[in-house]
Formats: sequence, structure tokens, C-alpha cells
Amino acid sequence: VAQSTHKTGRIGIFDSGLGGLTVAREIRKAFPWLELVCLGDTARFPYGIRSPETLRRYLHEGCAFFEEQNVSTVILACNTLSSLLPISVPNISLHGVIESGAKAAFKATKNKRIGLIGTEATIRSQAYARALQRLSTQLDIFSAPAPLLVPLIEEGWLDGEVPKQVIHHYLEPLLKQDIDTLILGCTHYPLLRPMIEKEIAGRNIEIIDNGSALTQELQGSFQWQGDWKDHPGSLAVYVTDAPERFEEIAGRFMGEKLKSIQKIDLTLQA
Ligand code: DGL
Repeated sequence: VAQSTHKTGRIGIFDSGLGGLTVAREIRKAFPWLELVCLGDTARFPYGIRSPETLRRYLHEGCAFFEEQNVSTVILACNTLSSLLPISVPNISLHGVIESGAKAAFKATKNKRIGLIGTEATIRSQAYARALQRLSTQLDIFSAPAPLLVPLIEEGWLDGEVPKQVIHHYLEPLLKQDIDTLILGCTHYPLLRPMIEKEIAGRNIEIIDNGSALTQELQGSFQWQGDWKDHPGSLAVYVTDAPERFEEIAGRFMGEKLKSIQKIDLTLQA
């Protein structure tokens, strides 16, 4: 995350669905005075199976919405969108989650063997491999797309035999490679973290969650002008479809009742 000074404490958080909230939760803990504007593009979810062209269009349409909301700093709280960076969008400064995740993994690994799970689009983009290679050419990266995890999470199916078996299926090949660090390369995955921890228990593997990695970086690199720290802070949530469906699991996860989740239409923005 680049050093930058901000005149407002308004930050946008953009994901295809619930994943943005795992990032919002960490940012809200660290900066409770920020005004967070979260967008979950639930009508076009999932992003992880889309082509780069389609994802770029979704990114531009989402950014047009943020601009309308007076937001000029947007965190792409979605690895799939972050894998498109660098990309420039007029009037918006974009910050992705991949670089912070890669840096945290690089710091954590001792044996230089890093595992990565993510959506098909994120893994295919090789964005993590590039970010990790920039940090060191000595790293071995073992990656696997884990397409069934996101729908399980959006369904609220966070424990029991089914998620356990699915996690086991995706992680087993990585565990065989003797990884000592596992990047959760999708912002949805922290919701399944307790189950993932059970699966790797006793193996001494450090889990990297991008929401906390990014928040730690923001603490060092973002400066806010003015008296923002006395501000009460807020969390506004917008989705593009079925707000009631989103509300229950999102509220449970954020540990606070999300006051009003509003439905918007992004295709009218651009
Ligand atoms: N949360 C998104 C990510 O981090 C992906 C979910 C989806 O496929 O839409 O990649």
C-alpha cells in the first residue's frame, strides 16, 4: 500500500459479496472512526469465475458508484478484483489486498514454501506468484483454486462434515508439499478460518488473512488530515441484489446489526 494522505475519512470497500466484510471488520477494529462504504455486487456474484474483461467492467461500474458516494479511496476487498491491478480508474485511488497478503506470507515463512488457495480467476492471474517473486526469487509457491468454498460461505454453511471434507480436499495436496504458510487468497475464506485451522492443526502452519495484513499496512501508510479521530465512524452497506439474504449472515459475522442494507443497481451507474 502506497504512502498517502487523505482529506476525508471515507473509504470504499468493494467485493462481490460477503468477502468485503472480513476486510471491513478488521479495518473497523483498527480505525473505528472511519466512514466505511461497503459494496457487495451480489447480483453478479461470484466474480471468481469471470474473465478479466468482464471483471474490469464490473470494477469500473463499482467505482462509478463510489464516486457518486463521494468516496475517492477504494479498497478492493476481493482478491479476484485485486488481481487486475495495476489499473487506473478516474478520480479513485485503488488499493488491492494481494500485495499485503504476499508481504505477510513472505515475513511469516521460514522454509520458503508457501501455500495459496483462491478463486479460479485469482489463481489463473498468477498475481500472487508475481507479488511473491518481487519479494524473493527463493520462494516455492503451491497454489490451488478452491471454487466450492465461496458458495458454502455465502450459504452460511460454516461448520460440519461438508465444509470439513471440501477443505480437506483442497488443502491435502498443499499440505503434502510441506508448506509452513497458507495464504487465504480470497476475502471470503476467513469466515471458514475455524474449520481451516482444525484441518491444519498441529502442523505449525501460519495462516495469512489479507484483511488483517492490509489493515496492518494501512496503519503505517495512511495519514488522515484533520480531526477524523474524534468522529464516531459508520458502516454503510450496499448490495446489488437480495439485501435480506445478505443481512443475516453479515450481521452475525460483523458482530453488529447492520442497520440498513440498501439495494442499488450498478449497471445504471456507468
Ligand atoms: N471474495 C472474492 C475474492 O477475494 C471472491 C468471491 C467470488 O468469487 O466472487 O476473490
